[in-house]
Amino acid sequence: MIPRTKIDEIVDAARVEEVVGEYVNLKKRGVNLTGLCPFHQEKSPSFSVSPSKGIYKCFGCGKAGNAVNFIMEVEQLNYIDALKHLAERYRIDWPQQEVSPEQLLKDKLRTSERESLQIINNFAERYFADLLINDDEGKTVGLSYFEERGFRSETIEKFKLGYAKESWDHLTNAAHTGGYNLELFKLGGLIKENDQGKVYDAYRNRVIFPIHSVSGKPIAFAGRYLIQDPKSPKYVNSPETPLYHKSNELYGLFFAKQAIAKNSLVYLVEGYTDVISLNQAGIENVVASSGTSLTEGQIKLIKRFTDNICVLYDGDAAGIKASLRGTDMLLEAGLNVKIVLFPDGEDPDSYCRKIGPLAFGAFLDEQRQDFILFKASLLIGDAGNDPIKRAELIKDIVSSISKIPDVFKRSTFLRETAVLLKIDEQLLISEANRLVRGNALKQPKLEESQYLQTSTEQELLIDSVQDLQLQDVQEKDLIRVMLNYGDKPYSDEFVSVAHFIINEISMEELEIEHPIVVQILSIIQHQITEGSIKFHNLIRHEDPIITEFVADIMSKDIEVSPNWHKKYDVFIDPVGYNFKEDVDSSLLRLKIKHVEKLMKQNQLELENFEKIGDMDQVDIHVQVHMHLTQKRHDLTRKIETTITR
Ligand code: GTP
Ligand code: MN
Repeated sequence: MIPRTKIDEIVDAARVEEVVGEYVNLKKRGVNLTGLCPFHQEKSPSFSVSPSKGIYKCFGCGKAGNAVNFIMEVEQLNYIDALKHLAERYRIDWPQQEVSPEQLLKDKLRTSERESLQIINNFAERYFADLLINDDEGKTVGLSYFEERGFRSETIEKFKLGYAKESWDHLTNAAHTGGYNLELFKLGGLIKENDQGKVYDAYRNRVIFPIHSVSGKPIAFAGRYLIQDPKSPKYVNSPETPLYHKSNELYGLFFAKQAIAKNSLVYLVEGYTDVISLNQAGIENVVASSGTSLTEGQIKLIKRFTDNICVLYDGDAAGIKASLRGTDMLLEAGLNVKIVLFPDGEDPDSYCRKIGPLAFGAFLDEQRQDFILFKASLLIGDAGNDPIKRAELIKDIVSSISKIPDVFKRSTFLRETAVLLKIDEQLLISEANRLVRGNALKQPKLEESQYLQTSTEQELLIDSVQDLQLQDVQEKDLIRVMLNYGDKPYSDEFVSVAHFIINEISMEELEIEHPIVVQILSIIQHQITEGSIKFHNLIRHEDPIITEFVADIMSKDIEVSPNWHKKYDVFIDPVGYNFKEDVDSSLLRLKIKHVEKLMKQNQLELENFEKIGDMDQVDIHVQVHMHLTQKRHDLTRKIETTITR
C-alpha cells in the first residue's frame, strides 16, 4: 500500500497542464488550454485542459480525468504504475518497500496473489528464454526450430521466446532451488499435479511463446510441440489465472500498440507465429486472436487504440464463411472493417516469408477490401440466380450493415451494396430499418423482452431505454450540483447543500442507479458524518474511476454545448449566482424521473392484468396511475416556479 500522503504529494506536484503538455501541443484559449486529443484522431482541437480545476476533457471522444488518469490512458498503465511514473517524473521518492518484488516474496512479506503470480511468471519467462539460448538441448532442438522458421535472433529476444526441456521436473526443480512457492506455479499452470499428488512440469519438449499484457509483462505462456503428435495438442496454454483472462488479452498488443496508434490501423491474424513474422518484416501493428473469434473484451481493447481493423483471413472458403459471423461483432462495435485474403494454403507467416517483406506490404495494400462488400460479393457468387438464396443473402448482408452504429456509414453501405448486387436501394433500406429497430430492442437485455408481443409494449421498452439514459443524466447532474455548491449552507449554517441533498434522497426513497454516483454519494455521506466535507478532494480520490467521472462532470462548464441544456433538460448555472434554484431544480428533475419510472412500471403491470382479466388489480393500478400523474404535475409546477422565482 502506498500511503495516502504520498499519493497526495504526487497528485499535487503533477500539474495537469504540465503532464498533458508533454504529449499534446497545448494552446491557450481563455482560462483553459486546448489541443489535439491524443486518444482519437482529429483535425481540429476538441481536447481541453483546465489548470485551475486540474482536469482534462475531450469533447470529441469524451475522455476526461486528472493527471493520473491521463498517464494511465496515454501510457496504458495501471493506477499504481501511473503514480510511480509521475513520481519519477517529479523526483518524488517512491515508498521503499516497493523496490524489489522478488525480495518481498522471498522475505515472505504479504503480497497479493497477482503480484506473486507476476513474479513467478517473470521467473519462468527468464528460465525458458535462458534454456533456448544457453542449454545444449534448447539450442539443438528449440533454437534450431525457430531458426528454420526464419526467426532472427533479435526477434527471438524481442518476443522473449523460450524452450521447455524434455523432462518432467526440470522447471519444478529450478523453482524449488530458487526458493519459490510451488503452489503459485500450480496456480499459474506451469506445474501440474497428478492423482497421486505428484507434481510435474506442464510444458515439456515445446518451444515457448510468452503472452504479454498490454504493458509488456508475461502473464501466460503458450507452448508449441515440435513434432506433430496426434495424441497431444499443438499448443499447450496457461489456464485462466488471477493474472490472465484470455478473453481480455490479445497476443502481440504490447509490441503493436504504438504502431497501431501511428498507423491508426490494426491487423488481426490468427497465430502467434503470424504476429512474430510480420513484426520481423517491419509490420508491427498486428495482433493475434489466438485461433478463436474475438471476444467483446478484446474488441474493447482494440478500440482503445484505433477504429480501423484489417482482418487477415487465411484458410479456405468454408473457413472464411464460418468466421463471417464473428466479424459482424467488429461492425457492431463501430469498427471499420477491412479484410485481406491469402492464396490457398498460405497464412500471413508463410506468405510473408515466401514473397518477402516489401512485396508483402504491397500485397496488403492492394488486396485490402471492405468487409461488407467482400461478404456481399462472396455470397452473391454462391447464390447465383436462385431467387430464394438471393433473398436469404440480402437478409444476411443487410443484417451485417444494420449492426453498424453510425447511421451515415450504414446508408453509404446500403447504397454501395445495392449497386453491387443490382438491387433496389429502397428495398435494402426498409429491410435495414426493420433490423435496426430490432437491434435497439435487444440492447437493454431486459428479461421482459422475451415475451414482448404488442407494439405498445415494444414502444414502452424503447422509451425505457431512453429513460435509463436520461436518469443517468439527472443523477450525474446531482453530482455536479454537489461539486459546485455542496459545502455552501442550504437553509441555515448547519445544513449544507450536500447534507440537504442526501437527506432528500433518503426521505423520498429516490433510487440512484448509476454505480459511481452511488459510490460518490456514500463518500460524501461518510464525509458529512466525519464532519469534514472536502469536495475538491474528490478529483484527487484514490480510485481513478471516480476521478475520471468527477473530471467529466467538472468539465461540463468548461464548454457547455448549446444543445446540452435543451437535449437533457438540465439547468446549468456555471457561475452559481442562483445556486439554491440550481439545487432545487436538479433534485426536482430527479424526482420527476423517479415518478415517471414508477409510472412506466405501473403501466406495464396494468396491461398485463388487463390481459388476464384481473379487474381488481386493474382498478388499483388505475388509482396508482392517477396518483402518480398528479404527483408529476405538482413537481413540474414546482420546477416552473423555481426557475422563474
Ligand atoms: P504454426 O503452425 O507454427 O505456424 O503456428 P500458428 O501459431 O500459426 O498455429 P496455427 O495457425 O495452427 O493456429 C493459429 C492459432 O490457433 C495459434 O497461434 C494458437 O493460438 C491457436 N491454436 C492452434 N492450435 C491450438 C491448440 O492445439 N491448442 C490451443 N489452445 N490453441 C491452438
Ligand atoms: Mn501458422
